[in-house]
Amino acid sequence: MLRGKLAVCVLFIGSFICLSNSNIFATDIDTDLIFADMCEMCHGPDGKGTKQGIEFGVHDFTDAEWQASKTDEEFVNSITNGKEENPNYIPYGGMLGEEEIKAMAAYVRKFAQE
Ligand code: HEC
Repeated sequence: MLRGKLAVCVLFIGSFICLSNSNIFATDIDTDLIFADMCEMCHGPDGKGTKQGIEFGVHDFTDAEWQASKTDEEFVNSITNGKEENPNYIPYGGMLGEEEIKAMAAYVRKFAQE
């Protein structure tokens, strides 16, 4: 009986440590890594879009005019839910946390600011 409780306790502490290691705090979010891992294959390292990405219909992130036409909410919503009218755009809501998605929306802005 005691053993069972101990096991539950160890599991609980274990998952707590795991959680604190994952990026749940805004300051810990490695946006460069997320971009390289999950976004770059379509949006390209320079944000202009890869050949594949452009076929899917990505916009040039360095285009300040296009950026200005979009709100942060739109970005967050698109990254979370994908685009209803574009099946090539996959929703990331299940893979990234809310804070991570907000951080990525801000990250995308940076391409038009250099
Ligand atoms: C499979 C290719 C692909 C990947 C991977 C991808 N995107 Fe996109 N993304 C697209 C396409 C295509 C569009 C254009 C959708 C449209 O406007 O129809 C787009 C549009 C966007 C937009 C503009 C949304 C809007 O409201 O117009 C943002 C911001 C964005 N992507 C961010 C990201 C981020 C951040 C990641 C990584 C977490 C990512 N994308 C990964 C294909 C991709």
